[in-house]
Amino acid sequence: MSYDLRVRFPVDDEELSRLHAEAFDHGYTPVPWAERLQRHSRSWAGEFRQGRLVGFVHAVWDGGGHAFLLDTAVALDMRRQGVGGRVVRALVQDLEELGIEWVHVDYEPHLGRFYRQACGFGPTQAGLLRLDQVGTERDTDCDG
Ligand SMILES: CC(C)(COP(=O)(O)OP(=O)(O)OC[C@H]1O[C@@H](n2cnc3c(N)ncnc32)[C@H](O)[C@@H]1OP(=O)(O)O)[C@@H](O)C(=O)NCCC(=O)NCCS
Repeated sequence: MSYDLRVRFPVDDEELSRLHAEAFDHGYTPVPWAERLQRHSRSWAGEFRQGRLVGFVHAVWDGGGHAFLLDTAVALDMRRQGVGGRVVRALVQDLEELGIEWVHVDYEPHLGRFYRQACGFGPTQAGLLRLDQVGTERDTDCDG
């Protein structure tokens, strides 16, 4: 089936909120994605099948040469068909054309093959703190 890859496309808040909830297995919460992306992200990429958003990723920006990938999400019924790799590579290409020099991502260990082999990232040391877990043992799982 043919696919349609788009970067910096007009985002439908409800559609992206639903995809994110499905991909990250949390309840549906409406998120003002379009406004957030315009304000905080250097670029974003999505894959559409027959008009349906099936994959998404965006990169927040430091205003200089660094961008950070977040929220890589593929619909459950579309996984392991190359969608995730394509949206990440499309985003990285757009970031390169925009003059970004460093693209960062962090991820859980089981996604090493995805980010390293399918998306081309090299290994690095990274750190993460969850500041919303005050008074409990901090959880350092990546959710974006
Ligand atoms: C991670 C995710 C974006 C991958 O999307 P996808 O479209 O299924 O990935 P691709 O089809 O492009 O995968 C390419 C390769 O990456 C690896 N890979 C992908 N998903 C994997 C997984 N869950 N576990 C291990 N390896 C994986 C495989 O080597 C795969 O090739 P193969 O299918 O020939 O074995 C998708 O599973 C998802 O949305 N997960 C939930 C949200 C999430 O965890 N996002 C990442 C946050 S850091």
